Amino acid sequence: MTPTWAQLAYLVAAVCFILALKGLSSPKTARRGNLVGAFGAVLACAIVFFAEDLDNLMPILIAIVVGTVVGVVGARRVQMTQMPQLVALFNGVGGGAAALVALLELDELSRFAEAHIARFDMAATGFTILVGAVSFSGSLVTFAKLQELMTTRPVVFPGLPVAFGAALLASVGLSATLVFEPNLSWGIVLAFVGLALGVLLVLPVGGADVPIVISLLNAFTGLAVAAGGYVLGNAVLLVAGTLVGASGTLLTKLMATAMGRSLFNTLFGALKGGSTLGAGEASDRPVRSAGPQDIAILLGYANRVIVVPGYGLAVAQAQHTLRELVDVLGEKGIVVDYAIHPVAGRMPGHMNVLLAEAQVPYEQLKEMDEINGDFKHADVVLVVGANDVVNPAAKTTPGAPIYGMPILNADEAGQVIFMKRSMRPGFAGIENELLFDPKTTLLFGDAKDTMSKLLTAVKAL
Ligand code: TAP
Repeated sequence: MTPTWAQLAYLVAAVCFILALKGLSSPKTARRGNLVGAFGAVLACAIVFFAEDLDNLMPILIAIVVGTVVGVVGARRVQMTQMPQLVALFNGVGGGAAALVALLELDELSRFAEAHIARFDMAATGFTILVGAVSFSGSLVTFAKLQELMTTRPVVFPGLPVAFGAALLASVGLSATLVFEPNLSWGIVLAFVGLALGVLLVLPVGGADVPIVISLLNAFTGLAVAAGGYVLGNAVLLVAGTLVGASGTLLTKLMATAMGRSLFNTLFGALKGGSTLGAGEASDRPVRSAGPQDIAILLGYANRVIVVPGYGLAVAQAQHTLRELVDVLGEKGIVVDYAIHPVAGRMPGHMNVLLAEAQVPYEQLKEMDEINGDFKHADVVLVVGANDVVNPAAKTTPGAPIYGMPILNADEAGQVIFMKRSMRPGFAGIENELLFDPKTTLLFGDAKDTMSKLLTAVKAL
């Protein structure tokens, strides 16, 4: 039985998690929110050491040290652009841990006489094992896809729907068996079926949709942890898991909406032959390109400029130079705004974080719905390392992987400038007709390098 003081301390940790989420909802308070959440997590872990009579103290401490070192080194080394992979990995480990804890609990419970085991407890245990295992293996596959350790294209093979259906049926059957006949062997079989289900669920998802699946698996881990909290009678796990489950579900829905597709289509589109990546090859059709001086003149004569930042800006780390350029244009009396697409970059809020880091005033960042009507009044649109978020194929090409995704109306502006290194497509792997439009000019090169040349040229005007 957990002592009252520990229950109260768990409550404090749970409140910290709720305050963390509140803090994370605004860029101004996000940093503090993150710290409050981390404090809650450390507190919750510390309480266990004082409130419980722990066996195996040494292995636990060793595991904590190893986990801390791997976590700190991994999080410090990772590039901002690799953040989704890191989230996928951490999330998978969480799901796997929940499944292992549930298996241990199942081992304990199955030693009781059957009459004393509550059926609902067994159902929750089975749920934790299954969903935790799905989340673990599914997250590892998303990691492999994003890290390009395997193809980012949807992987489909003839028997996949049947194998998926069979694994789903087996998992339901095994979970039901566990409720009435609790024993560790059934639990282990269920965990293996869950691992197979996770792999089969994620294999057919194309690269552009992988971040949505990471968010979904994150929600799964939350639910597994919440169910695990119920099994263990641990309130803080129940609260934290429910928060992760709920916020992961909302985020999944928001991302799917921002990309203009249903969750079902995201997961199973490739099985119908719908959501596939395009060729992904660089085009050799002719385009118009120019040097920094010519582009500087185009910008210098404009009254209204809209900047569209994308993933390439983050890769090049050109956000500081871009901010300087926008400041110089502002000093020349040119009105400049940044148009932020909800899925620009590789994670929700990527561009906001990147530009906030470069001290861009928050008022200059305009959400897609707010600015889309302004493109037709803009003299120049400067697309920096973005591609899919301005690709008209989203409106014009049924069957394209981004078809239906709302895009920024860059094609409506007077002139369009693309800053990118080559004619290679964006993440969705499809050609962008806007690159070949007569009003489009390309400034080729790494965005950090071309941006500083452009800045120098604009200053010299
Ligand atoms: P992308 O369509 O991926 O285009 C990025 C462009 O940046 C590429 O065309 C690339 O062309 C260029 N680039 C890369 N490195 C560069 C560098 N160092 N200097 C200059 N240019 C560089 O990016 P986007 O427009 O931001 O769209 C985001 C994509 O990610 C969408 O497909 C979206 O659906 C997907 N996605 C995002 C999210 C979230 S939540 N953000 C979630 C799921 C999916 P070169 O190689 O020719 O330079």
